[in-house]
Amino acid sequence: MSVCVIGSLNLDIVCRVHALPAPGETVAGLSVSRVPGGKGGNQAAAAARCGAPTAMVAAIGQDEAGEIMLASLKDAGVDTGRVVALPGEPTGQAFIWVSDAGENSIVVAGGANHRLTPDQASDLAGRKVLLGQLETPVATLQAAFARGGGAIRILNAAPALDEGRALLPLTDILIVNETELARYADLAAPPEALEDIAVAARTLIGRDDQTVIVTLGKAGAVAVRRAGLHRVEGRPAKVVDTTGAGDCFCGVLAARLSEGASLEEAMAWANAAAGLSTEKPGAAPSMPTRAEIAARLG
Ligand code: RIB
Repeated sequence: MSVCVIGSLNLDIVCRVHALPAPGETVAGLSVSRVPGGKGGNQAAAAARCGAPTAMVAAIGQDEAGEIMLASLKDAGVDTGRVVALPGEPTGQAFIWVSDAGENSIVVAGGANHRLTPDQASDLAGRKVLLGQLETPVATLQAAFARGGGAIRILNAAPALDEGRALLPLTDILIVNETELARYADLAAPPEALEDIAVAARTLIGRDDQTVIVTLGKAGAVAVRRAGLHRVEGRPAKVVDTTGAGDCFCGVLAARLSEGASLEEAMAWANAAAGLSTEKPGAAPSMPTRAEIAARLG
């Protein structure tokens, strides 16, 4: 397998609203749906739909939500042989509000995701890319990255967690959004100017061969190294739902790097794919196919 995703699976309970509720406010829900999600599952689906042989290391419960998650991964073409169904643990769930503008707020009840052990992430030799996030135990990802000699190790350090810093020395490519960058770089607010983003990103780089990619929403993304940076501009999109767009970026980047693409080419694909994913509702089901990405790139 070229890409191995070590991460979370959540069933997303999505409620559409006109505008996201403020603290203490009650708003009317317009519709409710159940959609496969979880940062790990979304990234695996994105990588597989982009055409990379992809395996997933994850934990679910022995419940209906877990069955939905397994079926969704298989449908996307992901190898689920390393997804374990644990007795007595609920499958992860995420409660998501999505506004008319396509923005969201998310609360995750991680359930079985918190029981993913380092043992389950053993024997990862031969993978070209290992891809992890922070909705499963840091120790598990630490073990996987430490054992994954030779693979490109990509960490999407989301959601921002202080414990996630322990993974930075084991990471080759770190992917964060502006809010997460501010948290890891100990800034009071997300930097806005490109030069400030680069300065903040470089505080997280410990080796010359490390890269920090900062995703900038509709403004695209920037890859920062100790020497130099590479910027991709955002592409116009008819935004319906931004849930999972960052995951789409990570999954497609991993897929293209596993095929030997340059970082610049992989970023162009990831950026186009992330824009496409915002044009459909839901997380995992909105991941585009390789043909759709190629067509968007022209
Ligand atoms: O990144 C989006 C994902 O975050 C959702 O699918 C939800 O499950 C949470 O994990």
